[in-house]
Amino acid sequence: MNKLMRSPQHREGPLSSSWGVLATTIFATLSALLALGLSPRAGADEITADTSAGQAKAAVCAACHGAQGVSPASAFPHLAGQKAHYLRKQITDIRESRRAVPQMAGLTDTLSDQDIADIAAYYAEQPANRGQAEPDAAKAGEVLYRAGSLERGIAACTACHGPRGEGIDSAGYPALAGQFPAYTITSLTAFRDGTRDNDPNDIMSSIAARMSDSDMQQVAEYLHGLR
Ligand code: HEC
Ligand code: HEC
Repeated sequence: MNKLMRSPQHREGPLSSSWGVLATTIFATLSALLALGLSPRAGADEITADTSAGQAKAAVCAACHGAQGVSPASAFPHLAGQKAHYLRKQITDIRESRRAVPQMAGLTDTLSDQDIADIAAYYAEQPANRGQAEPDAAKAGEVLYRAGSLERGIAACTACHGPRGEGIDSAGYPALAGQFPAYTITSLTAFRDGTRDNDPNDIMSSIAARMSDSDMQQVAEYLHGLR
């Protein structure tokens, strides 16, 4: 983040100034997200998560997400190795109907905050899935992932999701590496369509709005093989 803040030296010319504006916007958004992400969770963070209790409580999730969070089918996202804060937020959002997952209807209603913390801690500790990317699509996807698109105002994914797609736990940025391409595309499409809108400050909705179908396919393919 320091890099984002410092790199745009003030020079004349439309390119450097539009990059300056973009970088400032990204930085402001990141700061706002960090502030947002860290403070309201203070309460939830007082819960001490119990991983082995989480394993038992996750038994009902195994049919779709796999016993250790590696799912048997691309309709169901891998949860293994996902960041605990992100998992907690999504499970809570599903429970509170801020994110619609019809397939999980009734499954989260009875989960307490403690249950959610335990389940999240369990999945976070499992080894992530490792996929194999289709090389041509992945090459194009890598460019967008690492550099974004200055022309189209797409921020580099790596700034938030990390150089290895590992995410940033404290900020609530999810890991993306190894995920099923079909699920990554579904998520990005849902952010673009507005059918998924639980992202803080519309951060993913505004990025996905600028992405084409082929951007989504290529970046999803790249992420599948990233480790
Ligand atoms: C009947 C199948 C099914 C079961 C059982 C199920 N899920 Fe899911 N889950 C899904 C589907 C489908 C999605 C993806 C929805 C989408 O595309 O947005 C999902 C998404 C999720 C996500 C979001 C993942 C992400 O990367 O954003 C989490 C977290 C999750 N489930 C946790 C659980 C937990 C915890 C349980 C058990 C209490 C559970 N699920 C049980 C089908 C299921
Ligand atoms: C400024 C930070 C930021 C940038 C840049 C960013 N993301 Fe995200 N992304 C997030 C946050 C925060 C979430 C989680 C939203 C939530 O909590 O519901 C997210 C969620 C996602 C998800 C959903 C993951 C899941 O398991 O369902 C995908 C896919 C994703 N981002 C892809 C991308 C791609 C591709 C790019 C680059 C084109 C990108 N992101 C750039 C912050 C960012």
